Amino acid sequence: MLRTLVGGLELETPLLTGSGTFGHDPAALAFLNPGDLGALVLKTVTPDPRHGNPPQRIAEFQGGVLNAIGLENKGLAYWREHVAPQLEQVPLPVVANAGGHSAEDFVAMVEAFDLMKGVAAIELNLSCPNVKGGIQFSTDTAALEEVVRACRQATRKPLWVKLSPNVSSIRPFAESAEAAGADALTVCNTLIGLLVDWRKRKPVLANGTGGMSGPAVKPMAMRLVYEASQAVGIPVVASGGASCAEDVLEFIVAGASAVQIGTACFRRPGVISEIATELRQILEQEHLSLDELRGSLIWPR
Ligand SMILES: Cc1cc2nc3c(=O)[nH]c(=O)nc-3n(C[C@H](O)[C@H](O)[C@H](O)COP(=O)(O)O)c2cc1C
Repeated sequence: MLRTLVGGLELETPLLTGSGTFGHDPAALAFLNPGDLGALVLKTVTPDPRHGNPPQRIAEFQGGVLNAIGLENKGLAYWREHVAPQLEQVPLPVVANAGGHSAEDFVAMVEAFDLMKGVAAIELNLSCPNVKGGIQFSTDTAALEEVVRACRQATRKPLWVKLSPNVSSIRPFAESAEAAGADALTVCNTLIGLLVDWRKRKPVLANGTGGMSGPAVKPMAMRLVYEASQAVGIPVVASGGASCAEDVLEFIVAGASAVQIGTACFRRPGVISEIATELRQILEQEHLSLDELRGSLIWPR
């Protein structure tokens, strides 16, 4: 009933984890019932290990969280040895997420993921707002097109490109990624925000700014999913503020093929199973299918 095709992957459900929000490896799958998660999207890996930013790196606010983790990860060599072998046992598609400072970094990650049997698809994190040099690919269409093209040549696995909301229009970025050979777009990464501790006269996060996620960003992500899906023919994977079945259906009507659930998993690690159950109930009650709903938004004239 929830089967979904996204950018070269056949998924049991349209529900995915959001990179960096569900552990660094498959261990967190124990929170979910089999058959509820469509694909496991893992945290960004970079060629070299990264310590990330100094603490405080994450803070809650009324509408979600602000984070500046800074892509902490143990690097490709560790991942190849310790994480990749585990992925072969995961009974659903795994999407590995690549990060880096340069086009060469991205290509190196894609070449490595291409050889890993347990990796079904590759998501390029061209849009992390919390690392120096992490953003130029997402705010310069020529740079984005060049890096996606280079990565495309390095793999035949499905290639997803995660775009940034921190641009004046997402349309040219979506079009550039498609022209360069992306199989799907993930829309979108976190929105740059600032939380202030007025008593200390300081930002709450040691990095100063951070990436906003959670319910507060949903309307913005919804608009971007709509605009991106209108601009391209490849599938769009929504990411931004979804935390219940209604949210997922809204994204699908706006044009998404699948929806990543990120920040909501921090509050309730089993939330994806709750959403899957509710989705099945709603679709059955309403006699509707995901295919009928996808992209069915009627824009006011
Ligand atoms: C603590 C935290 C860490 C994240 N780490 C990554 C990451 O490593 N790579 C990435 O592409 N996105 C990362 N993200 C962004 C999420 O994957 C997602 O795109 C974003 O949080 C919006 O979705 P949400 O509102 O459902 O959380 C991170 C988000 C959070 C909150």
